Amino acid sequence: MKYPIQLQRSNSSALPSYDFTSINFGPDHTDHLFCADFKDGQWQNAAVKPFSEFSISPLALCLHYGQTVFEGMKAFRLQDGSVSIFRIQKHLERLNRSLQRMCMPDVPEELFINALDKLVSTDQGWVSGLPGNSLYLRPMVFATEARLGVTEAKEYKMMIVALPISNYYNGTVKVKVETEYTRAAKGGAGFAKCGGNYGGAFLPTRLAKEAGFDQVLWTDSETHTFIEESGTMNVMFVIDGTLITPPLSGTILDGVNRDSILTLAKDSGIQTEERPVSYHELEAAFNRNAPVEAFGVGTAAVLTQIGEINILGRSYFPDCSSSGVAIKLRNELQGIRTGLLPDRHHWNYVV
Ligand code: COI
Repeated sequence: MKYPIQLQRSNSSALPSYDFTSINFGPDHTDHLFCADFKDGQWQNAAVKPFSEFSISPLALCLHYGQTVFEGMKAFRLQDGSVSIFRIQKHLERLNRSLQRMCMPDVPEELFINALDKLVSTDQGWVSGLPGNSLYLRPMVFATEARLGVTEAKEYKMMIVALPISNYYNGTVKVKVETEYTRAAKGGAGFAKCGGNYGGAFLPTRLAKEAGFDQVLWTDSETHTFIEESGTMNVMFVIDGTLITPPLSGTILDGVNRDSILTLAKDSGIQTEERPVSYHELEAAFNRNAPVEAFGVGTAAVLTQIGEINILGRSYFPDCSSSGVAIKLRNELQGIRTGLLPDRHHWNYVV
């Protein structure tokens, strides 16, 4: 094994007293974490250890120039009691694309898979198997080299933390088409899962929340008419029975659930189109009373229906009934991930 992973077990556990019926997503975490260092051109010191704080220098480059990249993944309890990580390979590919864009070292497949396997096996008691619950996995890589120069770092840390999660959004969400602020422009880092893409979204999101919405619906930077993605999710529309989603143009995240839902839709014979969709097209569909569904897809959000879309001050209300395409696809995705339905695409990695 090129990257042996040491295991140092925690001698206490928060699990026996943890209440899985009132999960507080964000602060709650499992007993262990994974960490490794990139130094002298290679990954080393890989270990699963008790969850704890750690120290870095105030000169650590991640604190200054934004070399921070992360992933969002999930593990599920299957019907036979085993625990499985969803689409590990697809997440690894995206992580390495993000790292390359930010001039950071790739994470080798062996290290990534063994790290997740060891962490999830160690903390598998935290995967409750209750309906809607799963274990959220947050791999991250950040620059730790202590040197204020404005150049790419030579030293990094990789960590993976695991958090119990239930529904990220409760019910449907209301979104506002954003025509002033921009999330990402062509040639930028919009496709990368890097911290700055999220930090830069906070102000427009706060303004949308103050106006009564849950999230913004980003539009392209040039014309502010073509839909890109929503705060924490890719977006999809079903108009006259066709599932339409913005293409992977480089400015939006290559969502793993985006790919999973598109695949399941194609499997069930639903016509799918990955193409630019403008808010004018949405307005026109609503105005002619066409059947329109809208939803966001993401690891945390799973598939969340959009109950209201505000376009330049006017609100439209997509169909959020449970008999639509969205709920059918969500049930199918959840069925595969929890072992209720056959895993025909080999998406589950059993630890
Ligand atoms: C995810 O869906 O996993 C994300 O990373 C979005 C959000 C929780 C930041």
